[in-house]
Amino acid sequence: MLDKLGIPIIQAPMLGAAAESMAIAVSRTGALGSLAVANLNPDKLRRSVAEIRAATPRPFAINTFIQPPVDPAPEIVRAAMELLAPWRERFGLPPQSIPNQWAEPFEPQFAAILDCGPPAASFTFGILTSEQTAALRSRGIFIVGTATTVGEAKAWAEVGSDAICAQGFEAGGHRGSFLKTVPESSIGTLSLVRTIVAAVDLPVIAAGGISDGAGVAAALMLGAAAAQIGTAYLLSNESIISAPWRGAIEAAPDDPTRLTRAISGRFARGIENEFMSAMRRVENEVAAYPVQNALTQELRAAAAKAGSTAPLSLWAGQGVKLARPGGAADITLRLWAEALDAMRNRTKVWLGPDAQKGDRLS
Ligand SMILES: Cc1cc2nc3c(=O)[nH]c(=O)nc-3n(C[C@H](O)[C@H](O)[C@H](O)COP(=O)(O)O)c2cc1C
Repeated sequence: MLDKLGIPIIQAPMLGAAAESMAIAVSRTGALGSLAVANLNPDKLRRSVAEIRAATPRPFAINTFIQPPVDPAPEIVRAAMELLAPWRERFGLPPQSIPNQWAEPFEPQFAAILDCGPPAASFTFGILTSEQTAALRSRGIFIVGTATTVGEAKAWAEVGSDAICAQGFEAGGHRGSFLKTVPESSIGTLSLVRTIVAAVDLPVIAAGGISDGAGVAAALMLGAAAAQIGTAYLLSNESIISAPWRGAIEAAPDDPTRLTRAISGRFARGIENEFMSAMRRVENEVAAYPVQNALTQELRAAAAKAGSTAPLSLWAGQGVKLARPGGAADITLRLWAEALDAMRNRTKVWLGPDAQKGDRLS
């Protein structure tokens, strides 16, 4: 699958930031578009896969979270709700009610994936069983497991993954760590890709901090079969991020991102905002994912509607200052043209005159 791509670039699945249109636009270029389906019920998942399939004969990937069902203790939920109450009041929301479900259950989603058979499926936050990978393979689905450590890559190889997505610390949004703590899994893309390539006999996809053609070229030189890119698509025409989120990216100061647990209950990287700063003191006490994620959802939607970034999840990776506007297809083609250029002129990687001054590339 990865060998057959015309362009060895994968548009990262990005829940809440990219929908079917981005996957279609990117796959049409010969790169691989992806759709995050973690929040879709089986019917919607099937419809999304059918929509992409009808729009392009090229391969595409879908992606979901492997998450066991949760049943949080009432006092944990109550404490989390108390912390959020002043924020809800500020955005004119009534007192919180308990959501009907904390997250879409994984098992029915997995059955739907088997049923509709997308060309590729990637998984994060956990690991499949050998039986599950065998079932996907029997449907001809290319399997990608997300790893943030060499141990996780080896675990995915053992259960029968076809490729490993090596997701470095630089990456925007949530990362796929499932074996060790966040500090133990905080490995940069450069070291992670090299050590996984050395340890596992599977194609490796490099993800995290790759935001221009030089980054794509670097990933390929590290031995990656493809570069997976998320943040660099956030300003694209097809991006579905809210206006305040887009504005925060456009106006981001230098080095604007950090990890937070306060928004979703699982560490994720985003542009620092008022909520992240204010909640820093208590972020280790908030309810674990997906409970906190579900509890902050209404608040985030209300804030986005009001044009405020204060409590939003401004997910973005460390390369965010290099994000550029344009169509997702054009961005893909430009990334690849720049990568080829960088590989031809290895000694002087082109960054453009503006980059010297720290401006966004145009
Ligand atoms: C807004 C956003 C949403 C994301 N959502 C998902 C997701 O649903 N599933 C997933 O596996 N990875 C998700 N990621 C991580 C990406 O798949 C990818 O690993 C990451 O974007 C690569 O790093 P970069 O952002 O520096 O390009 C998300 C990243 C961002 C920025």
